[in-house]
Amino acid sequence: MTDDLYEKARAVRANAHAPYSGFRVGAAIRSASGVYVGCNVENAAFPEGICAEGGAITSMVAAGDKAILEVLIYAEADTPTAPCGGCRQKLSEFAGPEVKVSLAGPDGVRAVMTMADLLPAAFSGGHWSMPQA
Ligand code: THU
Repeated sequence: MTDDLYEKARAVRANAHAPYSGFRVGAAIRSASGVYVGCNVENAAFPEGICAEGGAITSMVAAGDKAILEVLIYAEADTPTAPCGGCRQKLSEFAGPEVKVSLAGPDGVRAVMTMADLLPAAFSGGHWSMPQA
């Protein structure tokens, strides 16, 4: 079932706006309602750039879903591309420790990790006392 995520992440990567780094990334997230994709969107003001994972998360939440079932990240680096630290935190807002994160490239899925592998001892809303929205 990861095949559909692979094809969608690879396809959306082509739409990345990455004129500054030259590094295009595609992400696909499965939730109960479907598959949501994102690509990195860089900006001349560098810190304003958005990672592929962030775009996919935004699409999922905009569609009304808040539970990630599976993630695949597609890039064409020599080694498997894992999500950046900020994206690990963003994913963990909606993905439990058991959620599978596949790291893929042109040759297919290169590594399969879990959220717990990527972000052990994650910070969550459970660490503070304000009510969750
Ligand atoms: N990037 C992503 O989109 N996702 C990741 O998980 C790693 C990095 C993007 C951000 C930036 O546009 C480019 O890759 C180089 O860092």
